[in-house]
Amino acid sequence: MGGKKEKIILTGLRPTGALHIGNYFGALLPFVKMQETADKFFLMVADLHALTTLEDSKNLGQNSLSLAMAFVASGIDLKKSVIFVQSQIPQHSELAIALSMITPVPMLELNPTYKEMREEHPKNNNLGLLAYPILQASDILIYKSTEVPVGKDQSPHIEIAREIARKFNNRFGNVFPEPKTILQKEAKIFSLQEPSQKMSKSHGEKTYIALFDSPDIIREKIKIAVTDSGREIKYDEKNKPAISNLLTIYGLFEEKPIKEIEKEFEGKTYAEFKKDLAEIIIKGLAPLQKKYKELEKKPAHIKSVLEDGAKKAEKIASQTMLEVRQKIGLI
Ligand code: ADP
Ligand code: TRP
Repeated sequence: MGGKKEKIILTGLRPTGALHIGNYFGALLPFVKMQETADKFFLMVADLHALTTLEDSKNLGQNSLSLAMAFVASGIDLKKSVIFVQSQIPQHSELAIALSMITPVPMLELNPTYKEMREEHPKNNNLGLLAYPILQASDILIYKSTEVPVGKDQSPHIEIAREIARKFNNRFGNVFPEPKTILQKEAKIFSLQEPSQKMSKSHGEKTYIALFDSPDIIREKIKIAVTDSGREIKYDEKNKPAISNLLTIYGLFEEKPIKEIEKEFEGKTYAEFKKDLAEIIIKGLAPLQKKYKELEKKPAHIKSVLEDGAKKAEKIASQTMLEVRQKIGLI
């Protein structure tokens, strides 16, 4: 590498249920592009983090496998990237305990997502939720990651990871690079029922298109999606937020500028536009759905992908842990 610093990218998603087209364009597809630019690319299923807000973990295992299959179906290349499940690498938890010794509680209490999550999940005011950023710092630092692609809501967590890395290095000696946040573009896709809200799995089935919705369900969801007053198919976020959102979705699937789509639908009705949009989404998701169904048919395959990922991840994680133990003075 001629002394050039390695670009180590790590990111993760929580296996909390259905993925939707917002996750696809806002996370999965950017990850697929990013894997090309990294020396090492780690993609993690953050099952322990999911546990912080789950009231019932009976679907957690299946959701973890589904998320890993969605990574592969979207185009994550196992020759370039390592897909693994957080809880299968015990060193994440081990490092988190060590990092907790140098993390001030007020820093965690001031974390804006802690407040939000506590409000959203009033029954889950557990220590895991408060310590969430410590585990996340551990996920990142254990691979000596240099870059972390995340949405805006996650950037306070990466700031905390940087702070923890600095504290560790100052106190025990240099081990961790300070990871850079690679901010993913703002949520681009909004709810089909309430276009002022971002599309999210938390606001009801009718509000989002899931990656694995059937053609009939997609047609129905687009048919009942809210529209705006007037009849022109025109991008105007302020006065026509619903139609603008549908145009955005059309443009993302067709990789076409919105202006062109507006021209195509000049003089046409909302109903005609929606009918076409549903077919465009169905066509766009078909290859991904096909790959996913193939993976679903052979469950042993994804398990072996994850075993292989865990082996590769653990090799690095255990080396870092050894270094950490030595620096701290644990015998
Ligand atoms: P949800 O709100 O459905 O629970 P998550 O918060 O789990 O979604 O999203 C995981 C990632 O997917 C986010 O970090 C973000 O990058 C991306 N994402 C989620 N919703 C959208 C959206 N509506 N538009 C674009 N990207 C999104
Ligand atoms: N907290 C992230 C989320 O909710 C998921 C996550 C866990 C993560 N560990 C990570 C993201 C490490 C980036 C790096 O979306």
